[in-house]
Amino acid sequence: MNAEIIVRAAEDRDVDGIVGLVEDRIGEEDAPEARLVLEDPGFDRTRWSVAVDGDRVVSTMATFPMHIRFGSVAIPGSQIEFVATDADYEGRGLVRRQFDYHHADLEHRGELLQVIVGITYFYRRLGYEYALPLADWRTIQPEEITELPDDRVVRPATIDDIETLVRLNAATQQHADVGVAFTPELWHLVLTSPVYRTLIVERAAEAVACGRLYADEEPYVLDLSAQNRDDLAALLSGLAGLVPGKPLTIVDRLGTRPLLADIGSAEKTGDAYYARIGDPVAFLNAVRPELSRRLTASPLASGTGRGLISLYAASIRFDYADGVVGAFEWHPGEPAPISKGGSGVAPDRVTSLLIGPLGFSGLADRYPDVNGGKQAALMETLFPPMRSDVQSWVVP
Ligand SMILES: CC(C)(COP(=O)(O)OP(=O)(O)OC[C@H]1O[C@@H](n2cnc3c(N)ncnc32)[C@H](O)[C@@H]1OP(=O)(O)O)[C@@H](O)C(=O)NCCC(=O)NCCS
Repeated sequence: MNAEIIVRAAEDRDVDGIVGLVEDRIGEEDAPEARLVLEDPGFDRTRWSVAVDGDRVVSTMATFPMHIRFGSVAIPGSQIEFVATDADYEGRGLVRRQFDYHHADLEHRGELLQVIVGITYFYRRLGYEYALPLADWRTIQPEEITELPDDRVVRPATIDDIETLVRLNAATQQHADVGVAFTPELWHLVLTSPVYRTLIVERAAEAVACGRLYADEEPYVLDLSAQNRDDLAALLSGLAGLVPGKPLTIVDRLGTRPLLADIGSAEKTGDAYYARIGDPVAFLNAVRPELSRRLTASPLASGTGRGLISLYAASIRFDYADGVVGAFEWHPGEPAPISKGGSGVAPDRVTSLLIGPLGFSGLADRYPDVNGGKQAALMETLFPPMRSDVQSWVVP
């Protein structure tokens, strides 16, 4: 049906078409950001796809590498942005075709986890799970903002501060079990984008806090990072000064929530980032040191055995002994894992099992096709509930 429409990596001749499509379907202010990326000579264009009908760009999307931390292990991953299809070409599978292109590309790059925020339900059709819950919104009224103390300086962040911004955000993300963080390249884009203003607080000439303002009708604060209330108060004072008289809505984070407990009003979003782990065996093998750490710290530390996790149409097997989790391997489907002493996890719950807030036992309580059997204690040990912190380019 789409024989005439080609999906491929973006090229120079597509840039104006992509920017126009982003402006039309996503938003006016997103268009300059798309151009910024596409005209960056350091950007790998094979990460930006188009569907073209002749010369006309009719659908597009892009991926950006992210730094992901799973417990103590760093793993490569990506965030997806700029998904849009021309209104005349919707419903023809063009976004699905581009996801196929990117999933193959990301697998080739060894990026084991993808994160995306956006259109309700849609990305579940494309293999994503709502696995990383969004923290609360916290709204702070102008009268709650205190004056900037004399011993702190607030200033705009520049591209010379990228290392500092990475460090401050990493410290705040330490409170989470799973952290999805900007790479220096993504910080560069965000700092050069006309859409955001990022501030840094200095105390005794040392950078101690930062935050990124999206100054919409309702201003939002992303990437809030601080280690104590006074540094945070100084930052809020600087941010509020950029949007006088308006309340600030903060995308709360595990690491800063305790510092904000008695300021503003919090509202649950009930929302989550979508995530996808395309190859659970590759992911499990990458995070084996963390899984072994969990096993060693558990009452099963001295246990020995062969684990079986059936995804029903395929299964995963691994050995464990004396606190060390061995290599995970794909095996054929096992429709009745419980009778074999193993466990079952529906394939569309695997991402939630590995990085989600419910852990194995929470999923097993809710879903009949997630079962522990005799191996339940091992599954609970390896896959506890995970708390996450996601840095997302756009306001979620
Ligand atoms: C949402 C949008 C990206 C879909 O693009 P598209 O090219 O029509 O998508 P596809 O045809 O590839 O759809 C893939 C699947 O999702 C389904 N689908 C399409 N739009 C959907 C929606 N809004 N909700 C749920 N499912 C949807 C399709 O039926 C198709 O299902 P199938 O493959 O199982 O038959 C497009 O409508 C758009 O550009 N919207 C405005 C821009 C936007 O909101 N971008 C996201 C910013 S974060």
